[in-house]
Amino acid sequence: MRYREFLRAHLKDIIPDNLRLPSGFHVVGHVALVNLNPELMEYAAFIGKATLDYDHRLKTVAARTGPTMGIERRPAYKVVAGSRDTVTMHIENKVRFKFDPIRMTFSGGNKGERISISRRIDSGEYVVDMFSCVGQFALHIAKNNDVNVVAIEINPEAYAFLVENIEINELQDKVTAVLGDCRVVHPTHVASRVIMGYLHDTEKFLPYALEILVKGGGIIHMHKAVSEKSLEDNITCITDICREEGFVSEIEVRKIKNYSPGVSHVVFDISVEST
Ligand SMILES: C[S@@+](CC[C@H](N)C(=O)[O-])C[C@H]1O[C@@H](n2cnc3c(N)ncnc32)[C@H](O)[C@@H]1O
Repeated sequence: MRYREFLRAHLKDIIPDNLRLPSGFHVVGHVALVNLNPELMEYAAFIGKATLDYDHRLKTVAARTGPTMGIERRPAYKVVAGSRDTVTMHIENKVRFKFDPIRMTFSGGNKGERISISRRIDSGEYVVDMFSCVGQFALHIAKNNDVNVVAIEINPEAYAFLVENIEINELQDKVTAVLGDCRVVHPTHVASRVIMGYLHDTEKFLPYALEILVKGGGIIHMHKAVSEKSLEDNITCITDICREEGFVSEIEVRKIKNYSPGVSHVVFDISVEST
């Protein structure tokens, strides 16, 4: 039975018929993350308990209480049913991620990109992941390639999981974790490829990404949340920044997912050569 129908059947004596129940939830390890309309929040504990009955692999249900905030992109959730221990192990394509999904973001919608980027890498590459979090891109890349990866993260809590995840996946020989602001702590003139997995004003970090590349140039994967009508302006802005920093650029745009109404999460694949 589908989730919404299951909830309706199980909660028919509790939740009024006119309220729209959620159609699904996001599973991270043993934790289900659910978005509820504001009028459903008073029934969150009932929905949480029913969700645990719906999927017996789950141990915790957490409901979103607000938007993801700040430069560290901290989500806002509260546990509404089950275990309060929300640190979990999430496995994706044989890569193991230990982290707390109610304390840091791990987007289900980016899964395809995490896997596909690891297939684009050539053997022997040096990759810098400027916004690493718990290793979403860095670990997939290192698990599947003979590479050096430097993974930078500013949030000490996410960084601690990143360090642990490097060990859990036995990638100590390939991945170096760095704590700090990538604008300050990045290595210079070392990488063939830079990953910029951050969606807000990402172009402000582009000069630092260009500094990370070896002097001749390389590839930058710059993620950003953009509206359809601002796409061309973004391409112009990227081209201008590259030119000011002494590079010619070729840019391809790929859509990753819908981000919000009228706004998409896209990645700009920027190939640059020094002039
Ligand atoms: C939304 S998460 C994305 C994680 C991963 N790159 C992905 O795309 O799935 C962005 C991460 O960048 C980190 N971050 C933000 N500003 C940073 C900075 N200046 N230097 C290093 N890390 C930063 C945040 O703490 C957060 O963990």
